[in-house]
Amino acid sequence: MNSTSTSNRPAILVTGGAGFIGSHVCVELINSGYLPVVVDNLCNSKEESLKRVTQIAGVEPVFYQADINDKDAMRKVFAAHSFEAVMHFAGLKAVGESSQLPMKYYRYNVAGTLSLTEVMEEFKVWKLIFSSSATVYGDPVSVPIDETFVTSATNPYGRSKLIVEEILRDIANAPNNQWNISLLRYFNPVGAHESGLIGEDPAGIPNNLLPYVAQVAIGKLQQLAVFGNDYNTVDGTGVRDYIHVVDLALGHVAALQSLDKSGVGCRAYNLGTGSGYSVLQMVSAFEAASGRKVPYKISPRRPGDIASCYADADLAKSELGWEAKFGLERMMQDAWRWQEKNPNGYDS
Ligand code: NAD
Ligand code: UD1
Repeated sequence: MNSTSTSNRPAILVTGGAGFIGSHVCVELINSGYLPVVVDNLCNSKEESLKRVTQIAGVEPVFYQADINDKDAMRKVFAAHSFEAVMHFAGLKAVGESSQLPMKYYRYNVAGTLSLTEVMEEFKVWKLIFSSSATVYGDPVSVPIDETFVTSATNPYGRSKLIVEEILRDIANAPNNQWNISLLRYFNPVGAHESGLIGEDPAGIPNNLLPYVAQVAIGKLQQLAVFGNDYNTVDGTGVRDYIHVVDLALGHVAALQSLDKSGVGCRAYNLGTGSGYSVLQMVSAFEAASGRKVPYKISPRRPGDIASCYADADLAKSELGWEAKFGLERMMQDAWRWQEKNPNGYDS
C-alpha cells in the first residue's frame, strides 16, 4: 500500500508513540500501509517528534495527548477508531529513578498496562505488542541469551517489565480468551532515522551510553566515564547488543503481521543483533563515524551492571521472519547525524 490517504489504512494504536522508539515505529507503520494513532501524555517527549514523522513518511499520525491510566480518555480514543492492534510503548524507563520512585514506576508501567488491557477488552481489541526489555534476563548465566533463559529483576523498572509479562501471559492463558500477544524483549536500541529528523532526546544528562557519547562528541559534555574496565570481556569494559532503532521498528511491523498467523496466545521474542560490542569499541566506532574525539576516563563499575549481554535472535528470525540488518557503523553514523542536526534535541 503506497497511498498517503488515511481512510483505508488499518489503524494501530501506538501508546507512547511520540517517544524515541514509538516515533520510529510510526514511520515504519506508515511505510507499511498502516495508520498510527498515538496516545502519549508527553511526560518524556515532544509533539514535534510526530510532526517530523509526518515530514518523513508523508502521513500524519493521529495524536491524542492523554494518559493511558485515564480510562475515560482511552475509551474515547477506542470509540473513535477501529483498531486492528495495539503497540504499547508508554511507560517510564530510567533504572536509577525507578529505585527512587518505585510507586510511580508501578503506576505507569504496571497499572497503566492493566488499564489499557481492560479498555482493549471492552472494545474487543485482542492483539497486543508489548515493549519488554532484555533487563528481564537479569544477570544471565551465559551469552548469547535465548528466550528460554530464566528471568529475574534487580530493580523496580526491570520488575515492572517482568510483572507485566506475567500479567499478559495470564491474560492470554485464561480460558475462552481471544488474546494474541507478543512480548518484544529489546536489547540496546541506538541510532536514529537516516533523515536525522527523529532520534533519542533524553531529558537532562543521559543515563545510557550512546546519547552520552554523542553529547561528549558535540561538546555538550566534557568526557565519558567508562564504568569499569575489569569485567571478563574482550577489553574489560561492558559488552552489549546494540540494535539500530529502525531495525527495532521493523521488528514491530514483522511482529504485527505475524500476529495474524500465530493465533491466540502470548509469545516472547528477543529483538537484538546477536553481536556484542564493548564500551571502548563503541567509543572508537563513534569517533570514526563523527570524526570527533570522545575523551573518556575509566571509572568504577556502575552498581547493577553486568559484564555481557547479547541476544540469540534466532526465534524472531524463524517465527517473525525478521532480523536486524544495520551494522555498528550505520548505527553510529545515524546517531551522529541526529545529534549534529539537533544539538538540543527537539528544542533545537
Ligand atoms: P520514551 O520515554 O522515549 O518513550 C515512552 C513514551 O511514553 C514517551 O513519549 C512518554 O511521554 C510516554 N508515556 C510515558 N508514560 C505514559 C503514560 N502513562 N501515558 C501516556 N504516555 C506515556 O522511551 P523509549 O525509549 O521510546 O521506550 C519505549 C518503551 O520501550 C518503554 O516501555 C521502555 O521501557 C521500553 N524499552 C526501552 C528501551 C530503551 O533502551 N530505550 C529498552 C528496552 C525497553
Ligand atoms: C540500561 C539499563 C537496562 C535498560 C537499558 C535500555 C541499567 C543498569 N540498565 O542497560 O535496564 O533496559 O539501559 O534502556 O541502567 N556505560 C558507561 N558509561 C556511561 C553509560 C554507560 O560506561 O556513561 C556502560 C555501561 O556500564 C554498560 C554499557 O555502557 O556496560 C551500556 O550502558 P547503558 O546504555 O546504560 O545500557 P545498559 O546498562 O545495558
